[in-house]
Amino acid sequence: MAEADGRAFGKHNTDEHMETIRRLFDPGRFLVALDGDGDEVVGVTGSYPFDVTLPGGAALPAAGVTWVSVAVTHRRRGILRALLAEQHRGFVADGLPLALLTASEGGIYGRFGYGIATEHREVEITRRRAVLRRDVPDCGGVRQVSTAELRRTAPEIHRRWAAQTPGALSRTPAWWDVLFADREWQRGGASALFHLAHRDGYVSYRIDRATQTCRIVDMATATDEAYTALWRTLLGLDLVETIVARSLAPAEPVQFLLADPRQVRTVAQYDGMWARVLDVPAALSARRYATEIDVVLDVWDPFLDRGGRFRLRGGPDGASCEPARDGAPLVGLGMAALGSLLLGGAHAGSLARAGLLEGEPAVLRRVDTAFRGERAPQHGTEF
Ligand SMILES: CC(C)(COP(=O)(O)OP(=O)(O)OC[C@H]1O[C@@H](n2cnc3c(N)ncnc32)[C@H](O)[C@@H]1OP(=O)(O)O)[C@@H](O)C(=O)NCCC(=O)NCCS
Repeated sequence: MAEADGRAFGKHNTDEHMETIRRLFDPGRFLVALDGDGDEVVGVTGSYPFDVTLPGGAALPAAGVTWVSVAVTHRRRGILRALLAEQHRGFVADGLPLALLTASEGGIYGRFGYGIATEHREVEITRRRAVLRRDVPDCGGVRQVSTAELRRTAPEIHRRWAAQTPGALSRTPAWWDVLFADREWQRGGASALFHLAHRDGYVSYRIDRATQTCRIVDMATATDEAYTALWRTLLGLDLVETIVARSLAPAEPVQFLLADPRQVRTVAQYDGMWARVLDVPAALSARRYATEIDVVLDVWDPFLDRGGRFRLRGGPDGASCEPARDGAPLVGLGMAALGSLLLGGAHAGSLARAGLLEGEPAVLRRVDTAFRGERAPQHGTEF
């Protein structure tokens, strides 16, 4: 399976790769398509178990679909569709409310009911010119720590960050081990990991000395004080010209900490994690809504037939969602559009303008305000 995956993604797995793969691999969560005498693997799909935070702070179990590939000799004859159909029917049978993935290409997964739920914003910061505003408090509290020390303290900080961040994925000990194994192949030519730690946050980064670049690998903060203190320390890294962060949320506060916000340059913005709702009532009743909402959603799901009409009544303190019997204002949408709305990242108005959501303008405005979260969703773990 690793060979099949390696061929599809253009990489040769070394013994070190295999060691990492084994750490996260659970064969019971994988499906393969076989050809020939049954010993040629021509298709693979698998999943990792995660909990994902919804707006309001509740966490739901979700399958993180991964390792999706079909042999180059067997493409475009329905193997992916067959694998995903069987896999997702299994998720439904297991009672999972959600499936998630990160996509190699943006054109593949909409047809399977996945919508873009988080976005990555890649930024470059010219460190010498990026100065904090004078009134930003300097509370200190940052220490440079070893990987072994951060391995002990980071999981608890990450849990606190995740509880406040819609879209955040939980990490098992195996994920931490893989991150901190810090193998040569994980470094992309830069240094081994360095870490800065605060009691309420941490950042792990690498230094690429050839280009005088600091590349942020992982960062989680549970308080604004930790966020500011860690950025202050990063911006003080002498001998670094550029700080690169690959997965900031679209509206992250770092630029507003600077005297000159333009020094945080967005060099790319693209889809991060995609979400697919498997159980509409379970997913929508678990989240909270910014304003009171009472609406019937008419959800279209040709791939898994998990759609139908659902009445959603919700607000900041709780929500209920059940198959609709009586009328309330109606909004029609596909399962993929619901996946985009779920974590609070998408604008209902933009989806409507693109023809992915239908309803009276006044109802769509209410849906828009109710579904949007205080923070842009961020998943935090690549899988
Ligand atoms: C992407 C991949 C898994 C597709 O496998 P496949 O068996 O050829 O796909 P299927 O024949 O089952 O196609 C299912 C549908 O997806 C569409 N599709 C498949 N690959 C697509 C792509 N790369 N972009 C857009 N649409 C794609 C097909 O046209 C088909 O559409 P339809 O059902 O509406 O007619 C395969 O091309 C692959 O392994 N690519 C390299 C690895 C990769 O990118 N994996 C995805 C990781 S997230």
